[in-house]
Amino acid sequence: MALLTVTDLRGGYAAADEIVKGATLHVDSGDIVALIGPNGAGKSTLLKLIAGLLRPRAGQVRLFDREIAGFDASAISRLGLAFVPQERNVFGSMTVAENLEMGGFLDGRHMRDRRDELYERFPLLAEKRRAAARTLSGGQRQILAMAIALMNAPKLLLLDEPTAGLSPQAAEDLFDTIVELNRTGVSILMVEQNALEALVVSTRAYVLVQGRAEREGSAADLASDPTVRDLFLGAKAQPMLAGKSGGQT
Ligand SMILES: Nc1ncnc2c1ncn2[C@@H]1O[C@H](COP(=O)(O)OP(=O)(O)OP(=O)(O)O)[C@@H](O)[C@H]1O
Ligand SMILES: [Mg+2]
Repeated sequence: MALLTVTDLRGGYAAADEIVKGATLHVDSGDIVALIGPNGAGKSTLLKLIAGLLRPRAGQVRLFDREIAGFDASAISRLGLAFVPQERNVFGSMTVAENLEMGGFLDGRHMRDRRDELYERFPLLAEKRRAAARTLSGGQRQILAMAIALMNAPKLLLLDEPTAGLSPQAAEDLFDTIVELNRTGVSILMVEQNALEALVVSTRAYVLVQGRAEREGSAADLASDPTVRDLFLGAKAQPMLAGKSGGQT
């Protein structure tokens, strides 16, 4: 079942400058979908258009069979879509606990119950609950950013470069966390620079070039497609294909 269907979506930051030029993609229930592509292709802009942080100029965005193009970000997040931006996704001077409080529409006991659930799922956040977010490592900060988004119990999570700036080990750990999260029933659309690694944990993927999804396929097919490897994945070594795969079966 399609959770999210984006059809011929267009938009950008200024009327004269269209960045996303007719993007079409979908995310099914249980999917981990990777969105890869060169710098400046419009990947972040596309996520912002879907999440309602930018207003689409044309095209459709259907979330759970409801047309949401033009809805504002808070309305969209109340419908079950959460977005973790590429930058400034935690409040550095606030504690971990305060960051989580900021994430939810819940109040009082419900908020605390949800926060406790997330502490159970991510014990490091419980350990660090009184620490300022800026004192976390890069990988810990990304987990906090995801947990903030999870406060509202979304069905679909949009992640913009969750592993940017992380060491290879921290990136691999974060991909494991994303797969585990997916197994709890959260579908995922993620933009990734670590393209090969992202394809390993994804069910499907799109290659975005100049504002359009130019290639689409199973993550395994795209990972082995010579054109994709040459164009977008550089001369990177072997993908970590052994034994891991995302998605619920
Ligand atoms: N806030 C902004 N205001 C105006 N133009 C912007 C803004 N953010 C991005 N752009 C422009 O939009 C285009 C696409 O940027 P976008 O951030 O969507 O690309 P991206 O695919 O996410 O790239 P990267 O891989 O570097 O994150 C770029 O030409 C960029 O200069
Ligand atoms: Mg980006």
